[in-house]
Amino acid sequence: MKQCQLTVPSVIHAGQGCINQISEIINIEQAKNILIFTDKGVRGAGLCETVEKICATVSYKVIDDLTAEPAVADIERVIAEIGEAKIDLIIGVGGGSVMDASKLASIIVGADYTLRDLLKDSSIAKKHIKTIMVPTTCGTGSEATCNAIVAIPEQESKQGIVNNCMIPDYVILDVNMIAKLPPKIIASTGVDALAHVVECFTSKKATVLSDTYAKEGARKIFHNIRKAYNNADDMEAKSEMMVGAFYGGVAITGSGTTAVHALSYPLGGKYHIAHGVSNAILFAHVMAFNKDACADRLAQLCDAVYPELSSKSIDEKAEHIISEIAEVVKATNIPISLKEFGVKDSDLDFLVQAGSQQTRLLVNNCKKLSLDDIRYIYKKVM
Ligand SMILES: NC(=O)c1ccc[n+]([C@@H]2O[C@H](COP(=O)([O-])OP(=O)(O)OC[C@H]3O[C@@H](n4cnc5c(N)ncnc54)[C@H](O)[C@@H]3O)[C@@H](O)[C@H]2O)c1
Ligand SMILES: [Zn+2]
Repeated sequence: MKQCQLTVPSVIHAGQGCINQISEIINIEQAKNILIFTDKGVRGAGLCETVEKICATVSYKVIDDLTAEPAVADIERVIAEIGEAKIDLIIGVGGGSVMDASKLASIIVGADYTLRDLLKDSSIAKKHIKTIMVPTTCGTGSEATCNAIVAIPEQESKQGIVNNCMIPDYVILDVNMIAKLPPKIIASTGVDALAHVVECFTSKKATVLSDTYAKEGARKIFHNIRKAYNNADDMEAKSEMMVGAFYGGVAITGSGTTAVHALSYPLGGKYHIAHGVSNAILFAHVMAFNKDACADRLAQLCDAVYPELSSKSIDEKAEHIISEIAEVVKATNIPISLKEFGVKDSDLDFLVQAGSQQTRLLVNNCKKLSLDDIRYIYKKVM
């Protein structure tokens, strides 16, 4: 077995109602000044209020003017808003956008480096404030990862800042947080989570540790995403999605996403297509392109998710996973073409160029992508 490592949050609470554990965490950490990060959508859904009530015994401040899929300037603005305030605990209540901003604040507030310094060299990062992550979508797995993604408008793309110190200290996986999540967001964030586990399992960086989380995450997500999308009251399916998404995040820290996420970044950066949607559009096409290099891995994933197909051939099992990916995207009514977002054939050159620069993730892909390969994949989704 090759050497491997997995960095995970210190304490993970899961189960309906576990949001109340925040009170215990405040005691353990002896926190007196708490900063709650959220956004208007999450606050409007009444989810921040629950956390505010728990924090009412101490001093707390809420920052809710975060934009979805934040850019460098958005993060700089909220960090400036915090100023010199004394903070001993940060709570991120939201989707990946909020959690990424919270994680960045935990390493930038009180530091002698800036976000722009981190974009050049994330190895300088140090955590200054402990964090609690409360995901309210079932997708990014940011509550488990050491990554934060920021949009870079001048490059019309996105960049990940990666450092182990960003791993959250506490995670709260409470299904009540996604009880009223609009089906459209269940779909896009759920497919994002599915992409995490499938990409991590087929990644060159996959290890025996990340495989365990990727396989179990895939089983949970493939079997529950349609139920969670179609039936708002299916809390069991939603719980499975929430844990599956978390496992996806853990798999990312042990392995890494690949060409789906790499080619997705320019779509988010330039056309502002939601992260989960741009991944969904590319997902089955990238896996079909990769198939000859990872058929055995896709077949192993099929064995884990659909054991009833164990007698099928490797190729049939790999095909099954790819067609199920396409089926899930279709069944959850996510767009399947870039045309719907105003992307034109004349944008192809930009996309190929920008996609090929996502080398951090492209190197993980089981198959090397030439510029022509990248063009071929983008053309498939035009
Ligand atoms: N750090 C990581 O490991 C990682 C991994 C993947 C993606 N990301 C990043 O995460 C971001 C995307 O995060 P996301 O997909 O979770 O979406 P998001 O955080 O951008 O939220 C999408 C929308 O859903 C709303 N929303 C969230 N929860 C809600 C709820 N329970 N009820 C009603 N509305 C709700 C928000 O207000 C927002 O308008 C992107 O910037 C992406 O690059 C980070
Ligand atoms: Zn993702």
